[in-house]
Amino acid sequence: MIAQETSVDAAPAVAAVVVLAAGQGTRMRSSTPKVLHALGGRSLLGHVLAAAEPLGAATTVVVVGSGRDQVEAHLADVAPDALAVVQEQQLGSGHAAGVALAAVPELEGAVLVVNGDSPLLTTRTLGTLVAAHAAAGSVFTVLTAEVDDPTGLGRIIRDERGAPVAIVEERDASDAQRAIREVNAGVYVANAATLRRVLAGLGTSNAQGEQYLTDALAPLVAGGAPTAAVRADDPDDVLGCNDRAELAARRRTLNDRVLDELMRGGVTVVDPQTTWVDVTCTVGEDALLEPGTQLRGTTTVGPAAVVGPDSTLVDCSVAAGASVVRSHCLGAEVGPEATVGPFSYLRPGTRLARGAKVGAFVETKNVEVGEDSKVPHLSYVGDATIGRGANIGAATVFVNYDGVAKHHTTVGDQVRIGSDTMLVAPVTVGDGAYTAAGSVITSDVPPGAMAVARAPQRNVGGWVRRRRPGTPAADAAEAAESRAEALSGGRADASGADTDQ
Ligand code: UD1
Ligand code: CA
Repeated sequence: MIAQETSVDAAPAVAAVVVLAAGQGTRMRSSTPKVLHALGGRSLLGHVLAAAEPLGAATTVVVVGSGRDQVEAHLADVAPDALAVVQEQQLGSGHAAGVALAAVPELEGAVLVVNGDSPLLTTRTLGTLVAAHAAAGSVFTVLTAEVDDPTGLGRIIRDERGAPVAIVEERDASDAQRAIREVNAGVYVANAATLRRVLAGLGTSNAQGEQYLTDALAPLVAGGAPTAAVRADDPDDVLGCNDRAELAARRRTLNDRVLDELMRGGVTVVDPQTTWVDVTCTVGEDALLEPGTQLRGTTTVGPAAVVGPDSTLVDCSVAAGASVVRSHCLGAEVGPEATVGPFSYLRPGTRLARGAKVGAFVETKNVEVGEDSKVPHLSYVGDATIGRGANIGAATVFVNYDGVAKHHTTVGDQVRIGSDTMLVAPVTVGDGAYTAAGSVITSDVPPGAMAVARAPQRNVGGWVRRRRPGTPAADAAEAAESRAEALSGGRADASGADTDQ
């Protein structure tokens, strides 16, 4: 195991984190604000907030603007303590940072300012930046990265001694500046008072006519203030996300990181290309993820469990040694050694105890299946409690809905539900009881009873010969009758009166 997020306890604290998330994100071409687009189990914004969270800042400010209602609602979900500050007009990243600082006028000390669209940032990288800022006695420190393709990004201009002197946006850069491959990550640590002062003086004489946060550096350098630029170890950390192609690329990188960590932790991932695991999931040692597996949300997979191929688990728990094969599962708990699939659909509230089985083409919802009980084939099981060691025959339906309300079914220990039973809720089948195949059970079955609830069988003799003469069925029936007659020496009455059973 490697420690993915190292502790940053030793690093000097930042007083506040400011996330810039007001931009429209035009290039996403979406009615959803850019920062709410999701990858790996969180929104873009959620990833940034999660990376900054361990820094322990007392104040988190998120600048919202475009789609602000949606962004504010999302914040209430993922970061209820964050302060949403509205930037009415998107006049640039420098203006956005100024709006944020104006909302917390009492704030002093170091502030981390970060673009809301950099989902690969890690706590480690942010912690390194904060520590370097303090160590250098800097008032403004920018995170940079050396990238292969700097297209679209701000370039870091250094002087002959290597000190950073300016950040130049691509649109405003000369050809020589465009050749520089060290870029601005859009992550800065600044002294709050200094930043307020310099932001207040920002102009808009650039290609976009905006107040660029990046323009804060040059005047500070010119005024002799101590500044710094820190290169990220992993250039992937700083990659932003401006359109759907970049979103897909970031998702892939994030997923690779998650799978690498799982594999180092003893998980077998058969096909990393088709296996997708959210950053919010955990998987135990010796678990096996087959191709086409997706683990999402709060899903946990226990040691030596098997998931896949082709399975999606959202907010599920799969205990040690269990298996889930070719299935779609939402909010379900799969107990130790339990088996699911192939082709099962587990819906919220499904809880399978140790050794339980839910088999092919079975849908379950809000149901407890007791230890070693089995629902092997083609059934719907909703709103039910099933005891231990029970067997639910093929094509059983728990008829839970009367058109208005849902009702509960209780099935006791060691029950045998015959194939094609309709259990019309509310109903209870007592311990050790049986139901006959094809029964429609509308009243309780006492323990140990055999419930038979179906019309008795009637055979209408000779019907096919009379009503379907000349058909292959009639020919086959006649042949059978002749054979039976020959065998019994002509005594058989194959024309048959009706018989009841
Ligand atoms: C920005 C940087 C660029 C850097 C890149 C890294 C500026 C001027 N440029 O470019 O140097 O290489 O990030 O990814 O900052 N925002 C607001 N309000 C506004 C404008 C923007 O809140 O009025 C927010 C956006 O939501 C976004 C962030 O600021 O989260 C950066 O804006 P964006 O338009 O994405 O800047 P880039 O062109 O990517
Ligand atoms: Ca951007």
